[in-house]
Amino acid sequence: MISDNINLAATILKEHGVIGLPTETVYGLAGNIYSEKAIKEIFYVKQRPLYNPLIVHIKSIEDLQTIAVDIPPIAIELATTFWPGPLTLLLPKKDSVPDLVTAGKQTVAVRIPNHPIALSLLNLIDFPLAAPSANPFGMISPTKAQHVDEYFKNQIKMVLDGGACQTGIESTIIGFDNTEVVLYRLGGISREEIEGIAGVVKLFNKNNKAPEAPGMLSKHYAPSTPLLFTDNIEKSIGQFADKKMGLLLFNKAIDSVPENAIQRLLSQGNSLKEAAAKLYDTLHQLDKSNLDIIIAERFPDVGLGNVINDKLIRASYNN
Ligand code: TXA
Ligand code: MG
Repeated sequence: MISDNINLAATILKEHGVIGLPTETVYGLAGNIYSEKAIKEIFYVKQRPLYNPLIVHIKSIEDLQTIAVDIPPIAIELATTFWPGPLTLLLPKKDSVPDLVTAGKQTVAVRIPNHPIALSLLNLIDFPLAAPSANPFGMISPTKAQHVDEYFKNQIKMVLDGGACQTGIESTIIGFDNTEVVLYRLGGISREEIEGIAGVVKLFNKNNKAPEAPGMLSKHYAPSTPLLFTDNIEKSIGQFADKKMGLLLFNKAIDSVPENAIQRLLSQGNSLKEAAAKLYDTLHQLDKSNLDIIIAERFPDVGLGNVINDKLIRASYNN
């Protein structure tokens, strides 16, 4: 059920239930971090492996003290700059944070979502919310209440409707390795913005066999339709000319395309922010359009363009 009844959402959470939660990045599957029943249900519903930890959502920077210890000054600086917002920090966890939430890790992932409804809800309850993105493991993240409802219709009591997500891609995940700042996952805050505050960041090593953050797994967020990520859109269109194709483009339509092609521009106004906000919803739509192939062009390699490219590479079969 999709509903905007925030009091009902709070009641379900207090009774150890799980709801679809709107945030500015993507919708989450949310439950009380201290409820073993709720957390187990999140893993079960999402079909998520138990070794993959969840992000904890809090309502204020003061609440960070109830979740994390030994917080480095640079973490506080990043938090005060970007919270509420699409930045997740990996910090040493307090003993009181259940191991189930952190999958046995000594660190906890935490953020304050920048969404008025999520914040109002967090103010109605006296516990933080653990929430992974509300998609079955490996599938496209949801940016509308309808996406969550389609994925989990009969499995969760409600999806709290907060409209379309304004950022539209997941939070950026940052951790700390002694004095170094480590970028684990590209997301709604660009690398350049982080480096503006923290100086040069170290990239988490993707070739690590046991990825710390499975957002770093190479195949992720994928539609069911094969997706080709390309540097040369015209050539790729030519290669698949006899196929039913969907073109995912930044700001300009292609003049001569095969008759059976559909084109989707993410931002006619040339805004990477707008393109990021529309990315997943457009992928959801193309995925439902009965196509043989989705061909996505490379976005400009700067700021959120880098983030969009990263997500498209993970969604593609040619990575
Ligand atoms: O924007 C977001 O971050 C959304 C909204 C709902 O907040 N949530 C989200 O959660 O994307 P999820 O679970 O789909 O992605 C969280 C990532 C996972 O790759 C997980 O492995 C990683 O964060 N993660 C969580 N806790 C971690 C930890 N202690 N150490 C390393 N990685 C961690
Ligand atoms: Mg996810």
